[in-house]
Amino acid sequence: MKLLFLNGPNLNMLGIREPEIYGQETYRDLEKYIQNFCVKLGIQCEIFQSNHEGALVDAIQAAYGKFDGIVINPAAYTHTSVALLDALKAVALPAVEVHLSDVSRREDFRQISYVRAACQRTYAGHGFQGYRLAAEFLLEQEKK
Ligand code: DQA
Repeated sequence: MKLLFLNGPNLNMLGIREPEIYGQETYRDLEKYIQNFCVKLGIQCEIFQSNHEGALVDAIQAAYGKFDGIVINPAAYTHTSVALLDALKAVALPAVEVHLSDVSRREDFRQISYVRAACQRTYAGHGFQGYRLAAEFLLEQEKK
């Protein structure tokens, strides 16, 4: 199984950015965490982060025919981006939404997720572990 892990704006600032919400670990730590569990689960992975909405749309489109699923933390674009929703719908790959923090317990403007309509599951508030839960879910789905 081949999964694409996509991370949106400001996630490259992990470790520096609001550590009381997002923790002390860096984006490099997140990449290593994802690579490690993918090896253990026998998943081939690619990880991509961008601060630019269009670059994320391009990455989703490029996944068509190449990946079996997408794990996406769209970060702030979660709450604003019809373009990311449309891209996920366009490629129609199994997708899972991940958030490090529990967005359901945060500000009102974080209660809307556009991408959720194109995702089979959402894991929020599990920190890095949410990415592994998402991958395990997609792996299980593929076996069915
Ligand atoms: C986030 C939650 C979003 O509301 C926020 O804009 C982020 C990160 C999370 O992982 O908890 O940048 O997606």
